[in-house]
Amino acid sequence: MMLSDTDVLSLLMARKPGYSLPQAFYTDPDLFQADMHNIYYRDWLMTIATVEIPKTGNYVTLQIGAYSIIIVRGADGAIRSFHNSCRHRGSRICSAAKGSSPKLVCPYHQWTYELDGRLLYAREMDAGFKPAEHGLKPVHCREAAGMVFVCLAAEAPEFDSMRLQAERYFGPHRLDQTRVAFQSTIVEKGNWKLVLENNRECYHCSGSHPALCRTFSDDPDLVGGDDSIGSPAGAAHIARCEAAGLPSKYVIAPSEQWRFVRIPFIGDAVSYTMDGKAAVKKRVGTVPFDNAGSCLFFHYPNTWNHFLSDQALIFRVMPISATETEVTTTWLVNKDAVEGVDYDLKRLTEVWLDTNDEDRRIVEENQIGILSPAYEPGPYSQHQESGVIQFVDWYAATLQRRLTGGNQLAAE
Ligand code: FES
Ligand SMILES: [Fe+2]
Repeated sequence: MMLSDTDVLSLLMARKPGYSLPQAFYTDPDLFQADMHNIYYRDWLMTIATVEIPKTGNYVTLQIGAYSIIIVRGADGAIRSFHNSCRHRGSRICSAAKGSSPKLVCPYHQWTYELDGRLLYAREMDAGFKPAEHGLKPVHCREAAGMVFVCLAAEAPEFDSMRLQAERYFGPHRLDQTRVAFQSTIVEKGNWKLVLENNRECYHCSGSHPALCRTFSDDPDLVGGDDSIGSPAGAAHIARCEAAGLPSKYVIAPSEQWRFVRIPFIGDAVSYTMDGKAAVKKRVGTVPFDNAGSCLFFHYPNTWNHFLSDQALIFRVMPISATETEVTTTWLVNKDAVEGVDYDLKRLTEVWLDTNDEDRRIVEENQIGILSPAYEPGPYSQHQESGVIQFVDWYAATLQRRLTGGNQLAAE
């Protein structure tokens, strides 16, 4: 039996705040569709760094639920996004995950589109056929300090307040002056919300992440939203970075959809390496010193990121099904850094490759346990898991608002 919107709403109303969600939220295919229709097809989603498509004609394709999209750089340098579905009979136009092409040519009957989506050429169509009416359908596409976001909704939510903070917080890291050193894509056999929940706490870190815990503090009070709960080390780090021109204080959206903060590493560490020393000899952007900690940025529903003095780590979450989620991690380094000279690729990537794999296992075990009929929602720790509570509350409020309709886009 299909769950209706009313059923999903009743399940939402029945959840106990401060507790993990009822089973259906992590397992049910209809609830997964509700998540996609009301969240993933409505919100801004982080996709790629602009430097992943540096030149005219460079493109990537992405599957977002049922939608296939293209993100492509035009002859004018602008990055645009289109639905990857030909306006002739609907064939997918680009099938590769990434590529480069002077025009977008449909492989079926060779309808040919400009990189800005206009239909340029459709051979032997009848008199009266209007190419201008058959351009590729655009997808909202915006940049924020070197990251590309798309939105599938007819009307996209407000974007600029996040973009302005992105420019302040990681603008100095100059993502446009970086290049991709490495990218990894894994599929975790778990619901996307379990992936996000796990990311939003470090209650599990000491038991699971030996490599990460060498440099990353699992103290939940390191830098709180409220200065009164921040630790002296956190406060001193923020003051030092702000004095050097790096915005660092905790800032969160009124909707709580995104947050920025710059946290210190443990002790003298400056990067996510086994010895805590920099992984890359050349710093990024205008970051004034090695020990700038990690600027953390999350944007629900699909990204969290770490901006360091020597690299940027970008994480993208894409739900595949109720119990499968793709996680893509991208390591960006100064564009002039040479592998083998300025950095060793293993040293650069090993801590987060390990951490991602450890998190994958955690999420998969969490999913298996939740699939048991014996599962019932359990209490989050207010002290250790306030980030998880914050995410789940955002999720529940967002889903509820959209299920109850009305024109709420302007307010979002
Ligand atoms: S479906 Fe694309 S050219 Fe025919
Ligand atoms: Fe983790």
